[in-house]
Amino acid sequence: MYRNATRSVKVPRTCRLYSTPAIPRPTRPSSKAVLLGTSFALATGTVVYIGQNTVFADSAAVFDSTVTTAAEDRKLREISVPNVSADGTLNSFVWGSNKSNTISPEDAKVDSFRLPSPVKWLQNIALRDLALHEGHAACIDARGNVYQWGDGFFGAGPSDLKGQEWAPKQTLQGKDIVQLQLTDSRVFALSASGHVYVLPSHAAAQDSLSKAQPSTSSSWWSLLGAQQEGGNYAEITANESLPWRERFVSISAGSDHLLALTSSGRVFTHPITKNANSHGQLGLRTFDIPSPSNSSPVSVELIPKALQDPYAKATPLSRPTSVSAESPSLHNIDDQQIRWCDKLFEVPSLKGIAIDQVAAGKRSSFVKTTNGRVLGWGANEYGQIGLGKDVTLEAITKPTEVILWRSVPKDVQSKCIGITAGGDLTVFTVERTDGSSMQTVDVLTCGNGQWGGIGNALYRSAQNEPARAKNVSGLIEFSEQTQNLQPIVPHAISISPSPAGHIVLALDTQNGPGGSGRDLLLWGANYDWQLGNGKRSSLATPTRLTRPDGSRFILAKAKAREVRDLEGKVWKRGVEVEQMAVAGWGNSVVYWRVS
Ligand SMILES: *[C@@H]1O[C@H](CO)[C@@H](O)[C@H](O)[C@H]1NC(C)=O
Ligand SMILES: *[C@@H]1O[C@H](CO)[C@@H](O)[C@H](O)[C@H]1NC(C)=O
Ligand SMILES: *[C@@H]1O[C@H](CO)[C@@H](O)[C@H](O)[C@H]1NC(C)=O
Ligand SMILES: *[C@@H]1O[C@H](CO)[C@@H](O)[C@H](O)[C@H]1NC(C)=O
Repeated sequence: MYRNATRSVKVPRTCRLYSTPAIPRPTRPSSKAVLLGTSFALATGTVVYIGQNTVFADSAAVFDSTVTTAAEDRKLREISVPNVSADGTLNSFVWGSNKSNTISPEDAKVDSFRLPSPVKWLQNIALRDLALHEGHAACIDARGNVYQWGDGFFGAGPSDLKGQEWAPKQTLQGKDIVQLQLTDSRVFALSASGHVYVLPSHAAAQDSLSKAQPSTSSSWWSLLGAQQEGGNYAEITANESLPWRERFVSISAGSDHLLALTSSGRVFTHPITKNANSHGQLGLRTFDIPSPSNSSPVSVELIPKALQDPYAKATPLSRPTSVSAESPSLHNIDDQQIRWCDKLFEVPSLKGIAIDQVAAGKRSSFVKTTNGRVLGWGANEYGQIGLGKDVTLEAITKPTEVILWRSVPKDVQSKCIGITAGGDLTVFTVERTDGSSMQTVDVLTCGNGQWGGIGNALYRSAQNEPARAKNVSGLIEFSEQTQNLQPIVPHAISISPSPAGHIVLALDTQNGPGGSGRDLLLWGANYDWQLGNGKRSSLATPTRLTRPDGSRFILAKAKAREVRDLEGKVWKRGVEVEQMAVAGWGNSVVYWRVS
């Protein structure tokens, strides 16, 4: 009972067929010859990948041999809960490190979860966004309010946390927030109307901000009206006011800089700290900040280290006399306080180029043009800008084009359809078309592959040339609707902000033959069980996540019986929701998002 293709389809050499129909197949094609024949069979309740000479069928998950005690068995059953329970309860899952109480602020004394485990605090909750950092975390509930939690936020070790103090705390309300970005010291929140807000990542810093009395008119920021609004946050605005109808539509934060995109395709940048331009990632060197003491702004210059001290790597003897680390005007500036710089500045070299996506790695920046080209700049010591093996500069201080078609024949057109950056890793999703046959999609990665983050089966500390990640590139499936083969496109990719990064990718098999949902593939560092496979060894190849019973871990869409806000109040009933996966700092979360 399997389907034969009605006509011959040319399958590109590099493609793999990915299929999920309902009936188990009695036989399997065992070589490329079958695929290239005029008919081919589609498979089974489990996924089958057909490689050039191999068929990878599912095997049950293999767990760490230490998971054998009765208690662990019970745990295994417990974590086999479905994505939506029979009574309609929405379940969310976490795995990996809970060191800072970020993924499971509720259960006492669980420092890590080896396998995807349901958490009560997210039951029946659907969010707009969720982000995890090393010591703190934040999310936006269905109403658009921001909550923060984690030891780094509350400022207490687990032993000091009593009663309900762990609970996510509402820190920004009534602003209709749609997107969050976290850094060590800040939370950035973008509102539906295009305003960018910043909050400290520490509760204590928020308290002291709220309490601080704006002394007199000599205090510059009392003039900005921040105080009337509650004071635990600030708004950052465009340096030159945006034309009517232009607004910020997306933000992306590195460790010390923030990129923001406007609805007209302009790119702005914001220094989060004085380190914002250490590798030229800011895309701009001089800007004004408010003066702490008087009303006239102070001009500051952030010079990339590579330009400031080209001899930094040389032996001390051959170095000229020491170069001062920062410009004199910065000495008395405290960049720990969120209002030290209150502006977003347009990146001068990108003026006039239509951009539709921005992405920041830890110290790197990327933009995608509306026609699918990519420019990158910033730190490149692991090759994370992706400029190829001939470019070994540690810092790229000007936006530079990333070539994503070196590995394909000349007649193949390449178009970038998405950039994801995080830590020292970058992922480009690239559509390939060769005119005659079908489109395919490649996932290209570069940067620090020491923990396998490149996904090309190699552990390599620097990857300068974007490499094709295995198992997620060149996948095709048979579409019932079009009666033809079509590419499988990643629906969402999340890269851990941690230096030892891992990547979580959801494959959009939603529209495929199974129509069942999205497969989750993970790879990279696994020291804290962040890959959810019950083991601690890193994976250099994207690998599908399975449930304890061996079935695929599928991200679902559902119509929720009810969705609650984080206060526990019912927000709406009968809402469309979908599961999203996020890579945190040594951990991962699958939550429900209001779609
Ligand atoms: C999760 O949801 C999908 C799609 O709704 C469904 O096919 C799948 O069986 C569910 N899996 C589990 C284990 O709940
Ligand atoms: C992780 O989980 C719980 C809270 O949910 C917490 O009480 C526990 O102490 C956490 N962290 C560690 C290191 O165990
Ligand atoms: C900020 O705006 C001022 C006033 O319009 C302008 O002179 C200055 O060049 C701008 N700064 C940057 C870095 O764009
Ligand atoms: C991905 O690649 C690895 C190694 O080649 C393989 O073992 C695995 O089964 C592949 N497929 C999936 C879906 O993980």
